[in-house]
Amino acid sequence: MQLAVLKERRPYETRVAATPETVKKLIALGFKVVVEKDAGATSQYPDEAYEAAGAKIAPTPEKALEKAQVILKVQPPMTKKDGGEDELKMLPEGTLLLGMLQPYTKPELVEEYNKRKVTTFSLELLPRISRAQAMDVLSSQSNLAGYRAVIEAAKIFERAFPMMMTAAGTIAPARVLILGAGVAGLQAIATAKRLGAIVNVFDVRAAAKEQVESLGGSFVEVDSAESGDAAGGYAKEMSDDYKARQAAKIKEVLEKSDIVITTALIPGKPAPRLLTADMLKGMKTGSVIVDLAVESGGNCEGSVLGEIVEKEGVKIVGYANMPGRIPTDSSAVYARNLLNLLALCVDKDSKTLKIDWNDEIIQAIALTHEGKAVQIEKGAK
Ligand code: NAI
Repeated sequence: MQLAVLKERRPYETRVAATPETVKKLIALGFKVVVEKDAGATSQYPDEAYEAAGAKIAPTPEKALEKAQVILKVQPPMTKKDGGEDELKMLPEGTLLLGMLQPYTKPELVEEYNKRKVTTFSLELLPRISRAQAMDVLSSQSNLAGYRAVIEAAKIFERAFPMMMTAAGTIAPARVLILGAGVAGLQAIATAKRLGAIVNVFDVRAAAKEQVESLGGSFVEVDSAESGDAAGGYAKEMSDDYKARQAAKIKEVLEKSDIVITTALIPGKPAPRLLTADMLKGMKTGSVIVDLAVESGGNCEGSVLGEIVEKEGVKIVGYANMPGRIPTDSSAVYARNLLNLLALCVDKDSKTLKIDWNDEIIQAIALTHEGKAVQIEKGAK
């Protein structure tokens, strides 16, 4: 079984789909691994480390893909339309491509995979069952995104996070508001608490309250009987009445907050708009908002992908690809997610690819196989 690891070429992408650690384990599973030159450079995994782990280094993507049966990627392959290398055109017929392939935002690529008879597994579609947890890329990446969002905010904020009692007087602790207490939000709570902040948290799912409180955050309650819980632990879109009540409550807490981290997402829909330009007017000058949902349309009005903009004296951080701002660790966990999934697709005795098409994990993540769209109607982002 020959496996190729390509260098990521899309804007803002610094991660890589295999690390020297996972290469060693892939080889033990029976793969011959070819890594494109400099694939790990931006996440601090040099070519020599891959070679030491047993991989061959290929000078170009074409060379890396020669004879490949399995291809590991973070982002969907680049196309002619994107400019630069046309990775899509290079995919050999019959290969298995694994990555975060974004079928909902890039449906045209699904057709292309079909035409090229490439089998594709899109890891964002993994079911949230315990057996799939070790493969769950959304969790592994969101966790680090939540951590990094707080670190980025702390860097931009012109004041300290912890309370400090000094001979020159007391420095007040920062007040952090976290909107959305999923995987990213929970890690943001833990990180802000470790830095000494006072943390308020809001989520539409009732189940989030207990988790927030167990991390030392205060849960902001909205006066409504409506619950946002939907299938698979995800949230649903709320009614207009709830949204109005929620906005009033958030505005109240916002006025006392220094830092806001927004993480709210609704699978398959644009991110809910939680902060309007009008709400920012009540915030203190020098406050910082990090909009982690910026790539899904943004939770904060006025956030700009890849930029920091200032409105009403508030800095709105719209960094793209937050996990990519901590690429050594985000690549390490992503690569382990892929390894765990591949282990499911290999016959350990014969060391050949053996995909169980009746497995609910495979059924959930498969986009295309043998020139047919398998299905993408499931509730994924
Ligand atoms: P997500 O990334 O889809 O959304 C982030 C958060 O935003 C969620 O907590 C959601 O409730 C919240 N949200 C949506 N609309 C909102 C609004 N209008 N206002 C405020 N908050 C809003 O969610 P994520 O991080 O993927 O996690 C969702 C749930 O799934 C969590 O309970 C998590 O613990 C659970 N989970 C379960 C796993 C498993 O394997 N069993 C693995 C990972 C997560």
